[in-house]
Amino acid sequence: MGWDAVIGSAGSEDIAKGIANSLGIDYASMEIIKFKDGEFKVRLGHGFEGKNLIFVHRLFPDPSQKMLELIISCRAMKNENAHVHAVLPYMSYARQDKEFVNGEVVTLRVLAQVLREAGVDEITTVDIHSAEGLKLFDMKVNNRSAMPVLAQYAKSLKLDNVLVASPDYGGIERSREFAREIGAEAVAFEKFRDRNTGEISMNDIDIDASGKNVFVIDDMIATGGSIAKVSTLLKKHGAKKVIAIATHGLLVDNAEERILGAGADEIITTNTILNPHSKVDIAPLLYESLKKEA
Ligand code: R5P
Repeated sequence: MGWDAVIGSAGSEDIAKGIANSLGIDYASMEIIKFKDGEFKVRLGHGFEGKNLIFVHRLFPDPSQKMLELIISCRAMKNENAHVHAVLPYMSYARQDKEFVNGEVVTLRVLAQVLREAGVDEITTVDIHSAEGLKLFDMKVNNRSAMPVLAQYAKSLKLDNVLVASPDYGGIERSREFAREIGAEAVAFEKFRDRNTGEISMNDIDIDASGKNVFVIDDMIATGGSIAKVSTLLKKHGAKKVIAIATHGLLVDNAEERILGAGADEIITTNTILNPHSKVDIAPLLYESLKKEA
C-alpha cells in the first residue's frame, strides 16, 4: 500500500518524527485549537485527500481528553477520504475490558466502536493490557510486544544471577517472553484486586531469590502498588537488586516513591508515556511494525 505521511499530535511529535524519518516520508502536525472553556477543535492541513496516513497519538496524560482528540482528529482525516492508521503507543482504557462488577460498562468495547465510527481503519499499539481486549475491536489491531527491546536494555546492564518475576498470573506470558530473551527463569506472584475499593493484596510464594538480581515485569505501572508489593517480598527473600520494568510508565500518585521506598533499586520503562524513567525508545519497534504493513 505504501504510506504517504505521518501526522503527529501535540505531545507525540518525538515518536511521530522518528517514524516519519525512518520511513522516509513527510511529517505533519495536527493542529489542536483550545478554547478557554476547555473545549477544542482540530485543523488538518492541506493535501491529505485520499492519502495513506499514520496518526501517532499518545493517550496519556489526560487519557479522556486525549481519547476525544483521537476521535476528532481521525474524523478530520477520514473526511479527506484518507486511510487512517492510528499508532497509539499506549492504549488507555484497556483495563476496562470486562464488566467486572454488575452495572459497569466494557469501556474498551465502546471506544473501539467509536473509533471505528470516527474513521480509524487500523491500529498499531504496544502491549495492550490483555489479549481479550484485542477481540473487542472490529478492525485490525497490531499489538506489538516491547519485551524484546526492554530485554535488550536489561542485558546492557550486564547483571548476573538474574530472575524474572511477574506481579500476577495475568502477566506471566509477558514475563516468560522477557525471561527467554535474557535467558532466565520466570516466576509469578498471585495478586488480588478488590473490585470495589481497588485495593490489591498479594500472596507470597516459595522462591529462592537470595543474592539474585530480579527484574519485575509488568505491562504498566500506575500507582506502583503492584510493583511495590512484589519488591518488598523479593527483598524479604534476599534479592540483591530489584529492577522494576514496565512498558507503560504512568507513574501516578507518587508511584516512584512507593516503588523505591519498597526496596526496588531502579525503574525502567519505554517512552510510550514520557516519564523520568522512560529509557527505552519505542519508535524503532513501531517503525519495524509499520514497515511490514506498508
Ligand atoms: C493490572 O493488572 C496491570 O497489569 C498492572 O499490574 C496494574 O495496572 C498496575 O497498577 P498499579 O501500579 O497501580 O499497581
